[in-house]
Amino acid sequence: MRGTSISVLVILVLFCCKINTEGKGYKEAFNCRELECPKYEVMHSGKQFEVRKYEVSTWMSTPTINSTSYSDAVARGFNMLFAYIQGNNYKSAKIEMTAPVLVDVHPSTGPFCNSTFVVNFYVPQKYQKYPPGSSQLRPAKLPRQKYGIVRRFGGFMNDGNIASEAMALKKSVKGTPWESSFGKSYSVAGYNSPFEYDNRVNEVIFWSNN
Ligand SMILES: *[C@@H]1O[C@H](CO)[C@@H](O)[C@H](O)[C@H]1NC(C)=O
Ligand SMILES: *[C@@H]1O[C@H](CO)[C@@H](O)[C@H](O)[C@H]1NC(C)=O
Repeated sequence: MRGTSISVLVILVLFCCKINTEGKGYKEAFNCRELECPKYEVMHSGKQFEVRKYEVSTWMSTPTINSTSYSDAVARGFNMLFAYIQGNNYKSAKIEMTAPVLVDVHPSTGPFCNSTFVVNFYVPQKYQKYPPGSSQLRPAKLPRQKYGIVRRFGGFMNDGNIASEAMALKKSVKGTPWESSFGKSYSVAGYNSPFEYDNRVNEVIFWSNN
C-alpha cells in the first residue's frame, strides 16, 4: 500500500516537472496577482529563457543616471519614482504601485568608467492615456523593440549578479535565432519591494527586433 502511493507520487512528480519544462514558460510573477503588470505574450519558451512580445505601453522614465554602481543608480531612480507615485506630479495624483521596476543598463567600457542607467515605472491602466506630468520623469512608450528575451532568477539584485545572469542568458541563447540580437545593453526587471525576502522574482532581458 505504502509502496504504491510512493510510486504514484513519483510518477506525479515526474509528470508535473516534465510538463513544466516543456514550453509552458515562466509562471506569472507572484506579485502580479496584486499589482498591475504589463501584458505580454510568450512567443517561444526555451531552455532557461523565454521570448516575449509585450504590448507597447506608457512608462515613466528617469533621466539617464551616470553611476559606478547599479545599486546606487537604482536607489536614486527609485526615489524619483517613489516621489512621483506619492503625489509629486503635476496633478498631485497618488498612483498605485505596479511591477516590475525596469532598469535599462548600459555598461561602461572600462573598469574606471561609469555606466548609465534609466529606471522605468509601468503606468497603471487608469493613467495609461494621460500619465500625470513630472519635473523629473518623462513618459516613454516601451518596449522600443519587438521582443524581450528573458531569463528569470531569484534573490536580491546587485552589480555582480545582474552581469552574471546577463551572461548566462547570452549563453543559453547561443545557437538559436536570437543569438545575434545580443549587444552590450540590457534591462533588468524587479518585481519585489526591497523588504520582501521570499519568492523574489527578477528578470534580465535583452531586446530584439527578430
Ligand atoms: C560616477 O558615478 C558616481 C556615483 O556613482 C558619481 O559620484 C561620479 O561623479 C560619476 N563620475 C563621472 C565622471 O560622472
Ligand atoms: C558620465 O558623466 C561624465 C561626466 O559628466 C562623462 O564624461 C561620462 O562620459 C559619462 N558616462 C557615460 C557612460 O555616459
